Amino acid sequence: MILREKLLAIFEKEMGNYVSGEDLSRKLGVSRTAVWKQVSKLRELGYRIDGTTRSGYRYLGPPDILYPREVRRGLNTRLFGKEVFHFQRVGSTNQVALELARKGSAEGTLVVAEEQTAGRGRWRRPWLAPPGKALLFSLVLRPSLVPYRVPEVTLVAGASVARAIHEHTGLRVGIKWPNDLLYEGKKLCGILVEMEAAAEQVSYLVLGIGINVNQERDDFPPELQDTATSLRMILGEKVLRLPLLQRLLEILEDDYQEYCRDGFAPSRERWLRYQVTLGRRVQIRRGEEEFSGEAAGLAEDGSLLLRLPGGDLISCNSGEVVLCREEGEP
Ligand code: BTN
Repeated sequence: MILREKLLAIFEKEMGNYVSGEDLSRKLGVSRTAVWKQVSKLRELGYRIDGTTRSGYRYLGPPDILYPREVRRGLNTRLFGKEVFHFQRVGSTNQVALELARKGSAEGTLVVAEEQTAGRGRWRRPWLAPPGKALLFSLVLRPSLVPYRVPEVTLVAGASVARAIHEHTGLRVGIKWPNDLLYEGKKLCGILVEMEAAAEQVSYLVLGIGINVNQERDDFPPELQDTATSLRMILGEKVLRLPLLQRLLEILEDDYQEYCRDGFAPSRERWLRYQVTLGRRVQIRRGEEEFSGEAAGLAEDGSLLLRLPGGDLISCNSGEVVLCREEGEP
């Protein structure tokens, strides 16, 4: 173990208590100056440490930066987040994860960034977030799946994120088909699944998730200020990203493994509990095509069933839904 790791391990055991520089230097077998240098380095990285070599040091906790060490610490998963790539700044975590997957990275490999310079959303839109305020990550998945079932995975993930946010913050968010998470009609989270397939079989998937956590209204570009929101804006206080990410990885792994074992039905039930689309008047845009009608149901394969004004029922497996205002809605 390198010196800094050993020092952190002692600090973690003594969390909140003063430990003298002398004790540390004895336990670590290095000089007090060497201890002080490591403490300075940890402080630079954002770790919260009180005190001086004279008074002793008191460890107050890690920063809310998604360092691999901190993501893995106490994470209760088998695969998800066992291998973590963290970037202060990167083009797109989905792009990095796609490259890692192509080179053979294991299922569950996590790519996480404090900032993206070319974050991408669905329909080739950019995904924007200021540094350090959002959760931006991608996971490599290797399900044994035919490509036309991939949309199910995006619904599985949407329901997992809704559940994790509910557990972590108490907030009940709604899912707009297929997997936009909304709070009072404003977008809180987006999910983008990209895949590589060969011979009618998925080779790998990348599940990319962007959650607006600590943005304030002004952090969004003006054109999104009325349609986007963040956990902080809703709760009125800062939300720690690290425990949210960890809980999310645990729930995602459970739900994904259940999906691989038992199929889509159990996740479909969960999705239905959080959805806010069915029963609403909607427009669905798919490229040049546009349909209006009532969102009548979710098919067994995750497609949206749309009742057209004439009464016909059509099934949509992709598209962007716009929820129409109901009478009396602001
Ligand atoms: C959407 O349009 O709703 C999907 C947005 C997905 C954004 C996330 S942020 C992390 C990951 N990396 C990307 O480039 N996109 C996804």
